[in-house]
Amino acid sequence: MSPLIAVTRRITGQWEERLRAAGCELRLPPAGADAPMPRPQLLEHIKGADGVLAMLTDRFDAEAFDAAGPQLRVVANYAVGFNNIDTAEATRRGVAVTNTPDVLTAATADIAWALLMASARRLGESERDLRAGKFHGWGPNDYLGMDLDGKTLGILGPGRIGTVIAKRSIGWDMKVLYAHPTGKPDFERETGAKNVALDQLLRESDFIVSALPLNDRTKHLIGAPQFAIMKKTAVLVSVGRGPVIDEAALVTALREKQIFAAGLDVYEFEPKLADGLMQLENAVLLPHIGSGSVGARADMAIMAVDNILAAVSGKRPPQLVNSDWQPKTGA
Ligand code: DGY
Repeated sequence: MSPLIAVTRRITGQWEERLRAAGCELRLPPAGADAPMPRPQLLEHIKGADGVLAMLTDRFDAEAFDAAGPQLRVVANYAVGFNNIDTAEATRRGVAVTNTPDVLTAATADIAWALLMASARRLGESERDLRAGKFHGWGPNDYLGMDLDGKTLGILGPGRIGTVIAKRSIGWDMKVLYAHPTGKPDFERETGAKNVALDQLLRESDFIVSALPLNDRTKHLIGAPQFAIMKKTAVLVSVGRGPVIDEAALVTALREKQIFAAGLDVYEFEPKLADGLMQLENAVLLPHIGSGSVGARADMAIMAVDNILAAVSGKRPPQLVNSDWQPKTGA
């Protein structure tokens, strides 16, 4: 029988052809729909599916697994992050969970640097003013920002994306710090970074970039006590998961000029922003577009499909994240 694959959002790339060519039956979102599925619709949409091509905006918990039914074999997340999926629950039910690492690393690292430069050199604020007709000619004191050359970059999250962000700092002769309980020799070898305590990283870094995933250890890692020890000239960039930063505390830190600026691609309560954040001139705010390049998104689609095809044919998917997963018997 053809495996039924529920796709929760129409994405870019060759995913549909690839799934159909492999003999899958597809359940697609309604034509023209381009928003996260409301919960009741999602629960109905995944009913009876053997596999789901899911978005990071779809929550997969016990209720969703119940709604899908016992035949479900795989949830392939169209993202590297998978905090929207209860992986322990998936494992208990014999459901493979997969993600899309590597293919979006460069695109996300680029967005981190775009945010770093935009925040340091006040691009958002100055562009807004120009568009509002406030450019009356060059001024010697206009929009003075922070220098990048030779400064210290603190990386929170020395994984794949953190590594590429650190490597891109060579062009600015930066010193790179990171904070990891046991150290990561591969990261140090590739980037020349030095492992220090988190407080030291926060005190010494001119630019702090978070590429951290969300879990119990990273939630609110950066809050009021951490802003209090950062340099007043520091720039904070966040491209991993929003709840790593206590967003209300960030608004206070930016408003009271405890730090110079922030550049965010992710938020604590997406798509909502903390009160007051949108009004701050020293915040550059993007709508979660880190992996949003044509190439990255097309490759993410292929990777998600290949994971689905492996799982529905009883094989171990290449990008399995619940590594203790065992295929359902009879699969
Ligand atoms: C991810 O992949 O986790 C990004 O946040 C979105 O692509």
